[in-house]
Amino acid sequence: MAPERRIGIVGSGDVAKALGRGLATHGYDVKLGTRDPKKLEGWTREVGPRVSVGSPADAAAYGPCVILAVHGDAAERVLDGIGPAAFAGKLVLDATNPLDLSHGMPPGLLFGVTDSLGERVQRKLPQARVVKCFNTVGSPKMVDPNFAAGPARMWVCGNDAGAKHEAEAIVRELGWAGVTDVGGIEAARWLEALVPLWVRAGLALNTWEHVLQVVR
Ligand SMILES: NC(=O)c1ccc[n+]([C@@H]2O[C@H](COP(=O)([O-])OP(=O)(O)OC[C@H]3O[C@@H](n4cnc5c(N)ncnc54)[C@H](OP(=O)(O)O)[C@@H]3O)[C@@H](O)[C@H]2O)c1
Repeated sequence: MAPERRIGIVGSGDVAKALGRGLATHGYDVKLGTRDPKKLEGWTREVGPRVSVGSPADAAAYGPCVILAVHGDAAERVLDGIGPAAFAGKLVLDATNPLDLSHGMPPGLLFGVTDSLGERVQRKLPQARVVKCFNTVGSPKMVDPNFAAGPARMWVCGNDAGAKHEAEAIVRELGWAGVTDVGGIEAARWLEALVPLWVRAGLALNTWEHVLQVVR
């Protein structure tokens, strides 16, 4: 497999597994990274030879693109553990959200308005090309989303225009109509703030098959 068709995913939860399976289906080789690779043995057997599992550092080293899909509260610690050098020059698709569930559902944010996890990830990885991506949609709809209302666009932001084009090419392959690019990585403040709204909309409309879009 050509290195450009390799994607590492730091994470082992619903997002990592949905994207791992979906990317493999679309012809990528994928490595998930977790502190406990054993727990994904059954999953890798089921999904097939395009997916493999290693440590978070193994996933970061795997290819030119790394997806960050860990619990929001742990994201900065996980990056510290791997070290920024592993991400230098790479496209990093940041799917994380700093959700605050300390008061139960629906969530708030641990921080926001003047900072975001997207910005914190970019600050931790100054030589990486970070694009906020995948954070505004539920994991079952991340790949081949097939919304009843028709094609949808992925919300993205990031400082590097080339990185956002690469992100768009990937999400188009995964069945999205394209991206809605809302600016530099500081716009992650507002893409992360969409998520508590997305949860409230899901509770109000009794669905988890939705995505927030601009209609005109
Ligand atoms: N679930 C969704 O539908 C959805 C949609 C959009 C965005 N997101 C965001 O995507 C991210 C992943 O969500 P998820 O639902 O797949 O998984 P999650 O349950 O939020 O997180 C699971 C991952 O976080 C890591 N983790 C948890 N606590 C840790 C700690 N103390 N230290 C190091 N690693 C830790 C785990 O690593 P180990 O394997 O090493 O334990 C695992 O890979 C989150 O930020 C979430 O807000 C979720």
